[in-house]
Amino acid sequence: MTVSADPKELLELATRLAAEAGRVLVEERPRDLGVASTKSSPTDIVTVMDQRTEKLIVEGILAARPDDGILGEEGANLEGTSGVRWVIDPIDGTVNYLYEIPAWCVSIGVEIDGETVAGVVEIPALGETFTALRGHGAWRNGEPIRAYSAQSEGKPVPLERALVATGFGYAAQRRAVQGALVAELLPRVRDIRRAGSAAIDLCSVACGRVDGYFERGTNPWDIAAGALIVEEAGGKVGGLRGAAASVAMTVAAAPGLFEALCGFLEVREADQDS
Ligand code: IPD
Ligand code: CA
Repeated sequence: MTVSADPKELLELATRLAAEAGRVLVEERPRDLGVASTKSSPTDIVTVMDQRTEKLIVEGILAARPDDGILGEEGANLEGTSGVRWVIDPIDGTVNYLYEIPAWCVSIGVEIDGETVAGVVEIPALGETFTALRGHGAWRNGEPIRAYSAQSEGKPVPLERALVATGFGYAAQRRAVQGALVAELLPRVRDIRRAGSAAIDLCSVACGRVDGYFERGTNPWDIAAGALIVEEAGGKVGGLRGAAASVAMTVAAAPGLFEALCGFLEVREADQDS
C-alpha cells in the first residue's frame, strides 16, 4: 500500500507516455502494416504497433517507478509492491488504426490501492488529449469538460432524444445478441453511433459529443481512464442494478439518462448472454 504517490505526478507521467506512444503510432506506422496475430477470434487483431507501444509505455513507467504494478492489453502483467497500478491499452480501436480511421487512441489509467486516480486518453488523429484527476475534474486539451451535450441545455436528455454510442465484441455469438439489442434500442433513441473505441466513446460522453454509451464485454484497459474522465466530467459510469462497470456491462451517461439507459438494458438482461 502506498500513500506517497502523488496523483498529479502520476497523471503527468501518464500524459507524457501516452503522447510519446501516440507520436510513434503516427510517425512510425509501417506502410505495410498488417495483422501480427489474433486473440479471442479471427477479427480480434493485434498489430506490431500495439506490441511496440505497450513496450514503450511499460519501459517508461518502470524507468520512473520500478515498484509499480502494470496491466496491459498486450500481455504486460506485473504485480508491483507500491500500491500503484497502471492499466494500459496501447491502441484502443486497433481495427480503426489498421484501416486508418481516426478513432483510435492510447489509454492509460492509474490506480492507487485499486481506485483509479488519474487517466489519459490520447487521440492523435483528432488532436485531442483527454485527462482526469480524481476530485479535480476532467479536461480536453487542458479545457474543463462536462458530460452534457449542447442539445441537453444542462438538463437530462430523455432516452428518445439521446445519441447513444455502443460497441460490439469480437465473438460472433456475442455479436448476434448485441445486434438484436441494438435493433430494439434504435427506434427508441435519436440514433446510435459505433465509433470503434470504447475509450473514445467514454470521452465522447464526458465532453457531450454523444449523450450515452453502453457496451457488454469491455476489459479493464478499455475503460480504466475513460470511466474516470466521465465521472470527473459530472457523468455516471456503472453496470446494471447498481453494479460497478465491468466486463458484464459498462454504461455511461449524464445523471437522468444514465438511469433510463440502465432501465432499458436491465429489462432485457443485457448484462447476460442469451
Ligand atoms: C475494442 C474497442 C471497441 C470495442 C471492443 C474493444 P481494441 O478494443 O474498444 O470499440 O467495441 O469491445 O475490444 O481491441 O481495439 O483494443
Ligand atoms: Ca487494444
